[in-house]
Amino acid sequence: MGEYFGDILKRALDRRDFLKLTGASAVVFSSPFAHAKTKNKPTKSLSYKTIYPNNEDRVVVPEGYRVSILIKWGDPLDNGEPLNWNRVYEGTTSEDVERQKKCFGYNADFVGFFKLTSNRALLVVNHEYTNPELMFKGFDLKNPNPTKEQADLMLQAHGVSVVEIRRKSDGSWEYVKGSPFNRRITGDTKCLISGPAKGHRLMKTSYDPNGEFVYGTLNNCSAGKTPWGTVLTCEENFHSYFGGDLSSISDDLVRNIHQRYGVPSSRAKRYGFHRYYNRFDISKEPNEAFRFGWVVEIDPYDPTRPPVKRTALGRFKHEAATTVVAKDGRVVVYMGDDERFEYIYKFVTKGKYDPINRTANFGLLDEGTLYVAKFNDDLTGEWIPIATVDGNRIIPNPNLPEPFQSDPVLCFINTRGAADLLGATKMDRPEDFEWNPITKSVFAVLTYNERRGASGQPSTDKANPRPLNYMGHIIEIKEQNNDPASTKFTWVMAMLCGDPRATEENRKLYIYGQPAKETTPAISAPDNIVFDKLGNVWIATDGNPSTNRLAKNDGVYTLNVYTKELKMFLSGVPGCEICGPEFSEDYKTFFCTIQHPGESDTGDIKSKWPYLNDGVVVPRPSVIQVQRNDGKEVYL
Ligand code: FEO
Ligand code: CA
Ligand code: CA
Ligand code: CA
Repeated sequence: MGEYFGDILKRALDRRDFLKLTGASAVVFSSPFAHAKTKNKPTKSLSYKTIYPNNEDRVVVPEGYRVSILIKWGDPLDNGEPLNWNRVYEGTTSEDVERQKKCFGYNADFVGFFKLTSNRALLVVNHEYTNPELMFKGFDLKNPNPTKEQADLMLQAHGVSVVEIRRKSDGSWEYVKGSPFNRRITGDTKCLISGPAKGHRLMKTSYDPNGEFVYGTLNNCSAGKTPWGTVLTCEENFHSYFGGDLSSISDDLVRNIHQRYGVPSSRAKRYGFHRYYNRFDISKEPNEAFRFGWVVEIDPYDPTRPPVKRTALGRFKHEAATTVVAKDGRVVVYMGDDERFEYIYKFVTKGKYDPINRTANFGLLDEGTLYVAKFNDDLTGEWIPIATVDGNRIIPNPNLPEPFQSDPVLCFINTRGAADLLGATKMDRPEDFEWNPITKSVFAVLTYNERRGASGQPSTDKANPRPLNYMGHIIEIKEQNNDPASTKFTWVMAMLCGDPRATEENRKLYIYGQPAKETTPAISAPDNIVFDKLGNVWIATDGNPSTNRLAKNDGVYTLNVYTKELKMFLSGVPGCEICGPEFSEDYKTFFCTIQHPGESDTGDIKSKWPYLNDGVVVPRPSVIQVQRNDGKEVYL
C-alpha cells in the first residue's frame, strides 16, 4: 500500500479497521475464499415463493423482498454534477466527455463487494460495453457513424468503477459521493503489463516501444475476487473495438493470430474508436489488439495502484476469473473463453497464498501453469498443461509444435492457438465458474451454442450433449481429492436448461438428469453465478428474451444443489441481461445489475427503465439491491 494512500485510509477508517485492512490480521480477505469449514448444508429449500419469467417493464422480486437502485450510469463519483444525460442524447459535448470520466460508467456487469467495516464497503463494478443506439438520438445501428465526442464519451464509459457504499438505517445501501476510494478506470487509463508477455515483440506499439503498458481496459465482462482482496477483471469481446484491414498486415503470424481472435470486427463501427484513435486501427497499429484480451488485477483499496494486465493467465475472450486456495496454499484461477466452441482454462500459481502479508501476493499470478480442460465421455476429465512460467523460464507443453517451442510466450498471446493443438474440448460458450465451498466442487456455466452439431460444425459430446443448444447448461466438476490444483477430475451434468413444459426434447429442463416438475420456472442462457452461505447456486441469465429461447425477460434463479429445486428470484426489464450476482458479506443484501435495459437486435428501444420522473429520456444501466423486508439474510 503506497504511503500516500495509507494516509487517506487512516483518515477514512478508524484505527481498528485500518489495522485490519493493512496490518497482520487477514480476516477481511481470507474467509470467503479458502475451504470454508461449515456444518451448514442446504437441505431445506429456500423459503421464498418463486416468481416466473414475464415481460413486465419493472424489476420483479418475490413477496417479502424489496428492490432499489444503488447506482446508475452517469451518477457522479466525485462531488460534481451528474452526467447531463439529455444533452448527451441530443448532441454530446466535450464537457460531457469530461464528466463521464468522473461518473459511473455504462452497462454495469460484474459486481464485487469488498468490506471496509460492518456498514461500509467498496463495490467494484465492470462496464462491459456501450449502446450508442440507446445513448444518442437518431443513432442508426445499420449505418453507425459516431461523432468524435460520442466516441470519446463511449471510451470513458467503459472500464471499471470502484465506489464506496454505506448502509443506511433501513438496511439498504447508498453510494458515497466524493469518497477517497472512488475511482474510474476507463478505456484509456494507463495499465501495466506483467508476466510472460511483457516486453514481447508482439506487445510493442509506437506509443509503447518496450511492451510494458497499455492505455485502457475494455469489454470488462465479469471478474473475480482474490483472497488478498484484489479484483481480477476480464477483457471479453475486445475484438469489437478494432477496425482496419487485416490484409494490410504483412507478418503472417500477426495476421493469423488476429484472425483466430476475430480481429478486426464489424462491430468496431458502432464505437468508431478506430476512426479517431490510430491505436484501434490494425492497419496503423497492428499490435495494439494483442494488448487486450487479458485478466487485469485491480486493488480497490488503493486508487493509486495502477491496474495490471496479468499475462500468465492467457489471452482469450475472458468471461470471469474466480479463485480458490488449493490444499497446499497455491492459488487456482478458473476461467472461460466465451465464444462458441472455445475452451475452459485454469491457472495454478507456483507460489503460495500469504494470508499475513497482503502485498506479498501481488506478484503471485505472474508465475505458474496455465491448463486447458478436456472432458471425456466417461465423465472423467483432465487439465492439459499449455505452458509453465517459472522465473524467467517459460516451459511449453512438449507436444506443441513450432513456433510455440522456440517462442513459448506465444502460448500466452495466442492461447487459443495452443489449446487448439492439445486436444482440449470445444465448449458451448463458457461463462462463469465458481468453487462451491460447501460441495467442494466447481460449477461451470455454458450459456448456449445454437451452432452445436449444425452442418460443418463440431458435433455433440457428453459435456456438450445438445445439438443446436439454444438453452445452455451447467456442469459440476469434482477435482480429484477435492483439490482445486489437481490435474484430473470427474464431472456431472447439473442442469440442462429449458422449459419443463417444452414439447421439444432439446428445450426441456433437466436438473441432475431428472426432468424438472411442471411448476418449475423456465430458465435459459445461464451466465454468471454466485453461491450463498449454504451452497445454493444463484444464477443470472443473459438471453431469455430471444425468441429462440423463452421470449421473456432475463432473471436470477436459485438452484438448491441438495434438493435439486430451482426457483426464480428476480426478473429484469425488456432488453436487459442480468449480471454481477453478489452478496454483501452478511448476506443481507443481494446485488445485481440491469445491463443494457431496452436493447434489441433491431435497434428499437424496448424499455426506458428506470423511469425516475427526473426528465431523463434514456434508459440507464444500473446496479440494484434486494433485501428482505424483515432484514434477515436473503437466502433464508
Ligand atoms: Fe459478456 Fe460472456 O458475457
Ligand atoms: Ca457475462
Ligand atoms: Ca461469479
Ligand atoms: Ca453472456
